[in-house]
This record gives sequence, C-alpha cells and structure tokens, in this order.
Amino acid sequence: LTTSVCIIGSGPSGLLLSQLLAQAGIASIVLDRRDRAYIEGRIRAGVLEQGTVDALEEAGVSARLHAEGLPHDGFDLAFDGDRHRIDLKGLTGRRVTVYGQTEVTRDLFEARMADGQDFLFNVSDVRPVDLKTAKPGVLCVQNGEEIEIRCDYVAGCDGFRGASRQAIPPDVLKTFERVYPFGWLGILVEKPPVHHELIYANHARGFALASMRSGTRSRYYLQCSLDDHVDNWSDDRFWDELRLRLGDETAAHLQTGPSFEKSIAPLRSFVAEPMRYGTLFLAGDAAHIVPPTGAKGLNLAVADIRLLSRALIAHYRDGTDTHLEAYSETVLRRVWKVERFSWQLSMLMHHFPDHSPFEARMQRAEFDYLASSEAASRAIAENYVGLPLEG
Ligand code: FAD
Ligand code: DHB
Repeated sequence: LTTSVCIIGSGPSGLLLSQLLAQAGIASIVLDRRDRAYIEGRIRAGVLEQGTVDALEEAGVSARLHAEGLPHDGFDLAFDGDRHRIDLKGLTGRRVTVYGQTEVTRDLFEARMADGQDFLFNVSDVRPVDLKTAKPGVLCVQNGEEIEIRCDYVAGCDGFRGASRQAIPPDVLKTFERVYPFGWLGILVEKPPVHHELIYANHARGFALASMRSGTRSRYYLQCSLDDHVDNWSDDRFWDELRLRLGDETAAHLQTGPSFEKSIAPLRSFVAEPMRYGTLFLAGDAAHIVPPTGAKGLNLAVADIRLLSRALIAHYRDGTDTHLEAYSETVLRRVWKVERFSWQLSMLMHHFPDHSPFEARMQRAEFDYLASSEAASRAIAENYVGLPLEG
C-alpha cells in the first residue's frame, strides 16, 4: 500500500490529523491495534479548551459538540471543606466545554467513515521503518498477513504504549518522567451532577473530583492507592468515601445510583524529546503524558495535531518545510508549560502519603493564597482555559 501520510493510532490525535489532512486533499492511512467500537468505548477525558473546540470546528465535526456540549464559566477548588471558585470567564474572558472524549472520537469516526478514509484495524506488530529515508514505511500484521505501507511521512499518534516512540533510537530520545504515588478511581453514573460546575477537592483522606458528561450523567473520581483494585470498591463504598471527601454541604446534593463504568488510572508526568525523528512525527500521548488533574491530556494532543497538520499542509501545498523543521521545538515549548501546570495542580490537590507536616502546610498556604489573590487565581484560570498556540 502507498499513501502520503501513514498515521499510527486511531485515537483523537490520529483521527483529527486524518480529518484535517483530508480537508486539504492529502491522503492518509490510519492503523490501530484495536477496532472502532473498542476505541469509541474508552472512557477518558471530559473537558475541552476553547482552542480544542475551535480545532474541531475547523475540522467540520462540531455540530453535536455545539448542540450537546456544556459551556462552563468556572470551577471550584475545595480544601478541607473550604471552597474557592476560579471564575474562568471573569478572569480570562474565556470558558471551557464539557464534552466527553468518547463523543469527540465518535464524531471524528463518523466524519472519517463518511469520507471513505482508509483504516486498518486490529493490526499487530507495528514497525515504522526507514525513517531517515525519503520513502519511509510502516510494517504490520493483519489477520496473520504481513502488510507494508510506503509513505512520505509517519505520524506517531499511538499513545503512551505505542510503537512509534520506540522506533526512535535510544541515543536520540531523551525522556523525562515523574510517577505519582497514587491513582484515580473513576466512575460514571446516570444521575445529575452534584454541582453545576466541577469541584476539585483536596481532603485529608485524599483527592476527589466531581465532574459530569451531561445534565443527567455524572463522572466522579477518588484518589486511591496504586495497588488498589476496582473489585475493592463497591458502589456503596465509593459513595461513602466521596461524601466524606466532598463534605456534608456538597454531599447533601449528591444523587447516587448504580455505576456503569469503574476504572483506575495511574498518574504520571512524562515527556519525550525530540518529537521528530527523520520522517516520523510524534503527537499526543505518544510523546507526553500529564496527570489528569488539569484536564489537559486530550487538549494537548489536539494542540499538537493543529501544528502538525499545518506543517504537513505547508509541505504539500507550498513546498515549505520550515514548519515541519520547527515542529518539535515549537510544540515542546508549550508541552512543558502544560506539564508544569498539570504537575502544579496535582501537587496542590492530592494527599501525598510521603509528605511531611511542613509540606502539608505549604499546600494549605498555597490554597489560602489562591483564595485571597486574584492574580494567583488568574494564573490558574489562564492555564485551565488553555495557553495560546505558538508558531
Ligand atoms: P490515545 O487516545 O491513547 O490513542 C492511541 C491509539 O493508538 C489507540 O487507539 C491505541 O489503540 C492505538 N495504539 C496503541 N499502540 C499501538 C500500536 N502499537 N499500533 C497501532 N496502534 C496502537 N485526559 C484528560 O484530560 N482527562 C482524563 O480524565 C483522562 N483520563 C484518562 C484515563 C486513561 C486511562 C488514559 C489512558 C488517559 C486519560 N486521559 C485523560 C488522557 C487522554 O485521554 C489522552 O491524552 C488522549 O486520549 C490522547 O489521545 P491520543 O490520540 O494521543 O492517544
Ligand atoms: C474530567 C477529568 C479530568 O482529569 C479533569 O481534570 C476534569 C474532568 C472528567 O473525566 O470529567
């Protein structure tokens, strides 16, 4: 098989890239080790920056997002029962939109299928090859048969455990990592949210997050230990613990019911540099991971794709490679700022088992400072609504 761009990974990054390239008349093949139903069913992020909404609009997949997405003008930080609202609209003039990653993925799949996009699902043994040559390729296996795709560029959009990053020689690739000593246990429930905005709560028993997917569907998270297991968490135990961490006043409004999704995700900060090797370009989770506290993972992936798609379009349309040359450096500058924000908010909002009483007081002092300083609150707000794209 031959194409212009071979896209490894059919998550939000790969799907959006194929959509933006197709709009510019550039052919691609998208391959994934899973199938469409599996990918659409993965419950993940829920908050979109305005820049992400703009990108989906440009990509022509925003009709349902505008009809069903919930605009949010602020969110609450809570600390041992005290609440401080971050007024996103008032402090930045911007807002965010609650719309699930499952819905973003579904909208993108629908557009790509209607357009006749070439997909290869359920592939294994994916190997990018000849990346330093003018005709790189991707080898893989589907139904026991070896497949070879030849292309001009390979887009590594295959997430944290994908094959693309591994194709960069270890003496070229630098990685930076922090693993946090806890995870998030998340559930979905078909009940209205406890509050009309999100609440991020630091409690002596650990972090809790009250989020939502719609006016009738709620998403809740609890900090848990890394060796914990979903089987240890009956719905009743989850609700009891959530009530404790949210506090009586908020918990009085909590509507509980049977959960229909329950999973544990570890928290990690990770960056790989550079994000380009020859004709291979990494984007999204393939290159970086943020802890979920700032709701940045999906947004960061979309920001990468906006720059990568523009750089590829400049190559094919104008014969200009300056944007491709600058891709890694340009994207990484913003990635590190978003890593910093996600790390900072994670450090502020969790209970760290290894913290000394001094560090615990530092967290409290930071919360008190935020609650009393418009400047500090604005700094949180401008990061939460999304930093501008450079380049
Ligand atoms: P992915 O969505 O990971 O897509 C990668 C695709 O590549 C997948 O479809 C995968 O099947 C495929 N693939 C992997 N390996 C190969 C291979 N070798 N060959 C071919 N295909 C391959 N972000 C938030 O903002 N809030 C959250 O609450 C949140 N929760 C999360 C929970 C979990 C469990 C995870 C893993 C992530 C979460 N994130 C969250 C992060 C967010 O979902 C990601 O940042 C986002 O999915 C990145 O999109 P992506 O397309 O780059 O990668
Ligand atoms: C959700 C996840 C997040 O990590 C976050 O910061 C806000 C909301 C969610 O899944 O709803």
